[in-house]
Amino acid sequence: MADMILRGRLLTFLREPMTPQDDAAHLYIEDGALLIENGKIKARGQFDELAGLAGEGVKVIDHRPHLLVPGFIDTHLHFPQVQVIASWGAQLLDWLENYTFPAEALYADPDHCANMATRFFDEIITNGTTTTVAYCSSHKSSADAYFAEAARRNMRVIGGKVLMDRNAPESVRDTPQSGYDDSKALIESWHGKGRAHYAITPRFAITSTPAQMESAGALASEHPDCYIQTHLDENHDEIAQTMALYPDAPDYLGIYEHYGLLRSNTLLGHCIHMRPREIDILIESEARPVFCPTSNLFLGSGLFDYEGLRARGAKCAIATDIGGGTSYSMLRTLHEGYKALATRDGTKMHPMRAFYWATLGNALALGLEDRIGTLEVGTEADLVVLDSSATSAMALRMERCKSLAEELFILQIMSDDRSVAQTYVAGKPMKA
Ligand code: GUN
Ligand code: ZN
Repeated sequence: MADMILRGRLLTFLREPMTPQDDAAHLYIEDGALLIENGKIKARGQFDELAGLAGEGVKVIDHRPHLLVPGFIDTHLHFPQVQVIASWGAQLLDWLENYTFPAEALYADPDHCANMATRFFDEIITNGTTTTVAYCSSHKSSADAYFAEAARRNMRVIGGKVLMDRNAPESVRDTPQSGYDDSKALIESWHGKGRAHYAITPRFAITSTPAQMESAGALASEHPDCYIQTHLDENHDEIAQTMALYPDAPDYLGIYEHYGLLRSNTLLGHCIHMRPREIDILIESEARPVFCPTSNLFLGSGLFDYEGLRARGAKCAIATDIGGGTSYSMLRTLHEGYKALATRDGTKMHPMRAFYWATLGNALALGLEDRIGTLEVGTEADLVVLDSSATSAMALRMERCKSLAEELFILQIMSDDRSVAQTYVAGKPMKA
């Protein structure tokens, strides 16, 4: 028997909306319902039909008039940076040195890791995000805590311990051998267990010696189904320092290419200042660029060329990049993304495209669209319930709302966790 029926205004995407008028890209059911069984979506449709199908006695949770959409997916953020957010006055490299590395050093302590993991996932759930792709610190304990807490909540997550063996204080450095051994042990413990996936995580070329890049490449070839995540072309000083450390490389992305780190399950954070050859090999390798708007604006890193990369066929993901990023909310991220694209070249990200991006778009970028990111039957019941009138200002604006797209734009521009009425992970309500 089904566990329950969720009733509400269902919205899910079938594919990317190509124009604002492309209504065939989404499915919307005004009085819709999902039948949930064993953490998955068993059936989807009109409430009346589903209630008949489920039979007597199945619990109905009525979320009307709220929207029921797939849980948000955050494709790049840093678990040990929950207390780094809102650190003043720096660009990338001094921000790392002055704020980030000292905060990450605390994750040598497993108790601190466990405490912060609970608090991290509380914030994630509060904001309607159901899948995270996280960098942990260089300490194995941080990744163990991240995966253990996600498993406790039965969340589909991706993560990995950072590999970094130079240009950082000793308290956050590993070695090529210890980084390799710890990654291996973490893959063994967590990858493919429950809903977890491992990401091999060389932080970026500046903090890894060639010997460590070799060992990251070895891990990558030994584990083709693990993700790979790193940073690329975020900041001009970063690029200059990188090229000084790897003088034989043709360009920044050429370093990752050389060590066998580029493939379709590689996630490249930022990708702001790319050279033409880098774009060519990005496209050829099918690696995914990740747009991190709140971080790019906060650190003054620059403006991501979404239209340019998309026109070349890149599958771009979007993410918060906590704690260079300033909000856990994917709604807030889409809001700042809208402004960043409008400022760069006048692109006006349509709200249908925005909601597609934070759900199915990110699922496709991760290759997980058969499990998360939609309300398709058979997929995992990771969902968010959104209240478009959560604040008095939103309610006032909603009085003149005439379409679903307009409502989504109000959510995108005016809201954050205040609109998240409930978050379901594998069919279980998680928001207190
Ligand atoms: N590049 C290397 N490490 C980091 C990080 O922690 N945050 C950001 N935004 N960029 C990075
Ligand atoms: Zn990052």
